[in-house]
Amino acid sequence: MNNPIKVLILGYGIRGRTYAAYAADHAEDLEIAGLADPVATFPAEATYPTWKRWEDALASGAKADAVIIALPDHLHYAACLKALQAGYHVLLEKPIGCNWKECQEIRAAQVASGKLVLTGYVLRYTPLFKRLHKVLEAGVIGKLTSVHVLVEVSYGKSAHAYCRGNWSVEANGTGMLVNKCTHDFDLIVWWMRGRICEKVSSFGALIECRPENKPEGAADRCKDCPPHVRRKCPFDAYKLYYEHTDLRYHFADPSDAGILKMIETSPYGRCVYACGNDSVDHQTVLMLYDGGLTVTLEMESFSQRRARTVHFYGTRGEIIADDEKIVVIPFLGDARRIEPEQHGHHGGGDREIMTSFVELVRENPSPERCTAILDEALESHRLAFLAEESRYTGRTMDGRSDPD
Ligand SMILES: NC(=O)c1ccc[n+]([C@@H]2O[C@H](COP(=O)([O-])OP(=O)(O)OC[C@H]3O[C@@H](n4cnc5c(N)ncnc54)[C@H](O)[C@@H]3O)[C@@H](O)[C@H]2O)c1
Repeated sequence: MNNPIKVLILGYGIRGRTYAAYAADHAEDLEIAGLADPVATFPAEATYPTWKRWEDALASGAKADAVIIALPDHLHYAACLKALQAGYHVLLEKPIGCNWKECQEIRAAQVASGKLVLTGYVLRYTPLFKRLHKVLEAGVIGKLTSVHVLVEVSYGKSAHAYCRGNWSVEANGTGMLVNKCTHDFDLIVWWMRGRICEKVSSFGALIECRPENKPEGAADRCKDCPPHVRRKCPFDAYKLYYEHTDLRYHFADPSDAGILKMIETSPYGRCVYACGNDSVDHQTVLMLYDGGLTVTLEMESFSQRRARTVHFYGTRGEIIADDEKIVVIPFLGDARRIEPEQHGHHGGGDREIMTSFVELVRENPSPERCTAILDEALESHRLAFLAEESRYTGRTMDGRSDPD
């Protein structure tokens, strides 16, 4: 039997707790060597050290094989550099860095250390997307002509994260496209492996949650908003967090009392028209690959459902996939529906990525393999940052170039 690998977890928020839960369920594979978070409540039964700051965890010389970085986006870069310099393998939540320069510096640090940096791209580990990849590789729909990816974020999740939350102001992190859709760029890079992206262009805007659209009589916080105004507002914090419960997992205290207190005191109780936000609420990316294949990625806030749909068009058929199923429609022959079994959050990807990470750390891959793994993840960032540059400048970008 193998000994568990030991990890330091930096950031004990939603993602940090998800990875820690893996250790609780797979004690034979993963052991927590320490946790760092300034505000989180750590497990009462913890026998390992805990720190307030990630810097103190890494400076402690704690004996561990790897570090899991589940910190807010803007801390990924500094924490990853330090973890690599200290000789740890790293599981790094996305984004790798907040801009291309940070990403390049992380690559240089990875090359110097020879250690693994696995990015938290959970979707490619899900049974559904693994199966989809196999179906595509089998070539059953002939030559691909176009791929359409639609990411419906939902009006509630979008108001939560991109108006009131961590990604509301682009200058504080990466903006909505990089935050929400690097997963999709990662899938596109995976599907397009071996092809060259020749051009990237992108358009997007913030249409709704701007001060000039604030309803007449609305207050700056939902708790102060007149009931007749709140009633007509789909983004009302009481509706999103108190009446509906599907966003409650974002909060440390999801009880009714905890949610009411949160609405009264936290940034998540602010009016979405008074958040000082500038993140887009919808964005489209167009990519041209060699041979004329086109890829379209659409990110939309104003949907009822939270969903991802992918449509592949080929010269001999179509494939349509969503979060639950894959439908293969050959022009000659019968359509086929595939519904891979999925367990757990992110379609099972949260668990599967940890299983792969543990295997990789045990295997201790060569420095060259570690660089290749990071390079594939960086490619998705390169394309996403190019798309953002296109949106800012109005130019069509050379898909082989480096973003500014
Ligand atoms: N792979 C995915 O599917 C996925 C999904 C959601 C979020 N993410 C990414 O994971 C990261 C974390 O997201 P989250 O939703 O868990 O956020 P979160 O806010 O719930 O957790 C972040 C934690 O970091 C802690 N923290 C802040 N400063 C710190 C410091 N100096 N030292 C130690 N801890 C510190 C915060 O107190 C918080 O508990 C983000 O970068 C996000 O983009 C990835």
